[in-house]
Amino acid sequence: MQHITRRGFAWLAGLSFYNEAALAQLSNIGKLPPGAVKINANENPLGPCREAAEQIARAVREGGRYFFEEAAEFERVQAESEGLSTAQVRVFAGSSDPLHRSVLAYCSVGRPLVVADPGYEAAARAAQFVNAEAVSVPLRADYAHDVREMVKAAPKAGMFYICNPNNPTGTITPRADLEWLMANKPAGSVVVVDEAYLHFCEEPSAVDFVKKGQDAVVLRTFSKLFGMAGLRAGAALGRPDLLGRIASFGMGPLPAAGVIGAHASLKAKGVVEERRKLVRDIREDLFTWMKAKGYEFVPSVSNKFMVDVRRPGGEVVRAMAAKGVYIGRVWPSWPTQVRVSIGTAQEMEIFKRVFAEVMG
Ligand SMILES: Cc1ncc(COP(=O)(O)O)c(C=O)c1O
Repeated sequence: MQHITRRGFAWLAGLSFYNEAALAQLSNIGKLPPGAVKINANENPLGPCREAAEQIARAVREGGRYFFEEAAEFERVQAESEGLSTAQVRVFAGSSDPLHRSVLAYCSVGRPLVVADPGYEAAARAAQFVNAEAVSVPLRADYAHDVREMVKAAPKAGMFYICNPNNPTGTITPRADLEWLMANKPAGSVVVVDEAYLHFCEEPSAVDFVKKGQDAVVLRTFSKLFGMAGLRAGAALGRPDLLGRIASFGMGPLPAAGVIGAHASLKAKGVVEERRKLVRDIREDLFTWMKAKGYEFVPSVSNKFMVDVRRPGGEVVRAMAAKGVYIGRVWPSWPTQVRVSIGTAQEMEIFKRVFAEVMG
């Protein structure tokens, strides 16, 4: 038997720290009571579209197989829909996995990760695991990533993490800033653009940086607009050598229901436009109501937003939960703001009533 060194043991123990179960579950709030309104994790209450649900039923019936060929087919359709070659696409069970792998591959001691604050925390936690510094730079006053400060803050950066639109704010980092970052980032660093929420807005994708062979990796997920968070499918788009570095941590078989459902979702007509409009209409109705009530919120283009509750945010999160409405979490740098996900129109009516009661 091989000896496991102290360092090796830390690595093994650490795996349980950074893995899916630990990191993708920042929003794990346990089992909820019947009738609870769950608007804490930016999920899509509609679930998979009809076309995906039908194919997923087939995957369940035939689930005794590995379905390797279906994963290859999903990769092909994903590549085709982005105008990329299959060598520029790797499919995963969601986007948390390639996000964590990117940090492990591109960051190390002396090659920091650079993130925005407030931002999605998973990348910084993965950095801890490899003892890479996570340099955090506040969002600009317009809630975009402050790319100039991010570059200034870490001249030896290994990876810049840009979530566009951002989680938790639902705000955009303009195209011109991304172009500036690509042109001015330190040599050898990689820009990872997390487009988990891109489908909810009309912004362009960063995928053209990949097409041009630049040092960029774009992450996509089927957990949000496509309503497949529990089914698991996602993709990393990038130059083959950059994808090779994240694939080197191992590529096991993927969940058939996720792969087959994602493939069907990509092929289904009009799903993105329909769902984008549905979420926008509910969000705009809510924002109109909040403005009329005098609540201050960050103008999001996504399926969640931050609202200023003018007291420690956790108090409002707990008071709402006591009334059956489970909203999202609070970021330490914005202690009086809480994140709220957009649920169904009916759920947001309940949110309005309970929020008004709690705010007093
Ligand atoms: C910005 C962002 N990236 C990635 C993820 C991971 O999602 P998944 O692993 O379900 O694709 C999330 C989940 O909430 C997220 O908000």
